[in-house]
Amino acid sequence: MAIVAPSLLAANFLRLEDECKMINESVADWLHLDVMDGRFVPNISFGIPVIEHVRKATTKFCDVHLMIEAPGDHVPAFKRAGADSIIVHLETCPNLHRNIQQIKELGMKPAVAINPHTPVLLLNDILADLHHVLIMTVNPGFGGQKFIPHSLEKIKQLRKISDERKLNVLIEVDGGVTGDNAKDLVSAGADVLVAGNTVFSSADPMETIKKLKAINQENKEQKERSAFL
Ligand code: DX5
Ligand code: ZN
Repeated sequence: MAIVAPSLLAANFLRLEDECKMINESVADWLHLDVMDGRFVPNISFGIPVIEHVRKATTKFCDVHLMIEAPGDHVPAFKRAGADSIIVHLETCPNLHRNIQQIKELGMKPAVAINPHTPVLLLNDILADLHHVLIMTVNPGFGGQKFIPHSLEKIKQLRKISDERKLNVLIEVDGGVTGDNAKDLVSAGADVLVAGNTVFSSADPMETIKKLKAINQENKEQKERSAFL
């Protein structure tokens, strides 16, 4: 069964506690938290104080996606705020191996994100150290964008590399995930579906989360892989 990770960026920020409660009661597995600095990406979202509060309101695994320059400077603060995993972008980390070790040493799950233009092959020498890889399926910075079709090929490539090397790294996809493309994503090899607007803009978010899980369950291959992991 794939992991469903609603992205809080699409939530109603005036009602964050209620939104967290809804996620707690849902079958979602993770809560995805998007941090943007207005430099690496052309938008500013929220940061450490918000995550500290969200941490108190959520029972879910907090997956923190850092779309910021020099993320290593802030990793300890995100740990204190309650992050369970930290995703750094390959494009912001000239010393990526050091960043990954830092995240691990602080007791969090390390992950690396790649932008739509970044080849999967660039991950080869870091893959074995990662808990998950985030394949961006839109250009980072905004919710509600359209899925970039070429991403499907990248998911397949990474799935192949990971299976051939018998790695346990999870493949997460982020951006433009909908009820319509989720099945293709899972069939291509995605283990974790991040969904912002698809969940929070729907009439019944809990039901939408359930449906995303149900799509995953329909895929036999995915089920077998999850059992193996
Ligand atoms: C975009 C963020 C995403 C965003 C996804 O830069 O990384 O997590 O919240 O939003 P949707 O699912 O609406 O495309
Ligand atoms: Zn994200």
